[in-house]
Amino acid sequence: MTAPPLTEARHSLNAVCPYFTMFPLSFPFRALRQASPRAVVLDPFCGRGTSNYAARFLGLRSYGIDTSPVAVAIAKAKLADTTHTAVMELARQILTEHQDYEVPEGEFWEGAYDPDTLDQICRLRAGLKRRRTEEAALLRGIVLGCLHGPLAKDPEKSGYFSNQMPRTFASKPAYSVRYWTSRNLLPPKIDVLKPIERRLARIAAEELPKRKHHGLITQGDSTHATSYAKVQDNLSYVVTSPPYYGLVTYVQDQWLRNWFVGGPETIDYGRGKQLSHESPEAFAKSLGKVWNHCGDRLKPDGKMIVRFGSIRSRDHAPLDILRQSLASSRHDWRIEGWLDVGTADAGKRQADTMGTLSSPTTEFDVTIGFSRARR
Ligand SMILES: C[S@@+](CC[C@H](N)C(=O)[O-])C[C@H]1O[C@@H](n2cnc3c(N)ncnc32)[C@H](O)[C@@H]1O
Repeated sequence: MTAPPLTEARHSLNAVCPYFTMFPLSFPFRALRQASPRAVVLDPFCGRGTSNYAARFLGLRSYGIDTSPVAVAIAKAKLADTTHTAVMELARQILTEHQDYEVPEGEFWEGAYDPDTLDQICRLRAGLKRRRTEEAALLRGIVLGCLHGPLAKDPEKSGYFSNQMPRTFASKPAYSVRYWTSRNLLPPKIDVLKPIERRLARIAAEELPKRKHHGLITQGDSTHATSYAKVQDNLSYVVTSPPYYGLVTYVQDQWLRNWFVGGPETIDYGRGKQLSHESPEAFAKSLGKVWNHCGDRLKPDGKMIVRFGSIRSRDHAPLDILRQSLASSRHDWRIEGWLDVGTADAGKRQADTMGTLSSPTTEFDVTIGFSRARR
């Protein structure tokens, strides 16, 4: 398989919506550089679907699993097979159709969005909630990407719907209100169709091949067998980056996008489904369960390529935790090599992107072969 021809900057579909802790596209491209055209790929912690996008770009079938509804929505957008026209038609249809929808109230919502913009967002939210089509998947991903970000000097050219906010994560409501009030920042009046159309145009402009195989993204806990119900038994590659030990706030940090995909209009501090983060040992054990399911479905010459590191606040040697997790699996995994990715991808790495929670520590790309245990 030849090297991917486009630079990362031009993979606009992959950049449809930022996601906390995403890994750079160069990682799955490197992992899949020798894949045969029939190779099948799984990412059991798919996040924004970077591995799935890389597989699609290379013409490979892929599967993704993630517990976060936001991750699943973004990853599904990466596999959507649709057209610019169909997505825009759907957006216009939803904005004009008769439907019941709810508009959240309160200081945060008044500060975050102009009332007409919020009304349009709520119509899109309600309209997309019940649609399962390919164009709905891409429109959902695009809207998630536009939902919050920096204020533009000229609202006509804004790429985002909101008052000043970060792009990668949603700041907490009380903090946001204080921030806007102290700086006299008012929400811009945005016609949501404009940022949607601009984001879509960037995707249409790139040379994305038509999807050759049907991929599948499942919302589920990858420690559970049921989450793999639709995954084929002949995987060639598992390409993934599990949560780092101690990182548990994936949904809370994306609370506004989580609201858009049907979640509550306030932050839910419940843990939800996660790996166990009680201790490094418990964490390794729950990761070992994921490796069990992966090994059950990998071909004998299949490989796992795992990006793993740690966050500074829980600085346990990442390679030790990974080794422990492999040892706790019933398959016989062999680490064949690892690459210290150090500061090479600074700014895009998992620990780095957590901003307030952590500062970066070394990350490794680990290649793992295996012998399957008898079932
Ligand atoms: C490091 S992120 C993956 C980022 C991804 N590689 C990307 O580029 O976007 C880890 C992901 O694991 C997910 N996750 C955490 N616990 C999980 C579990 N038990 N089952 C499935 N996904 C889980 C989180 O929601 C998060 O999206």
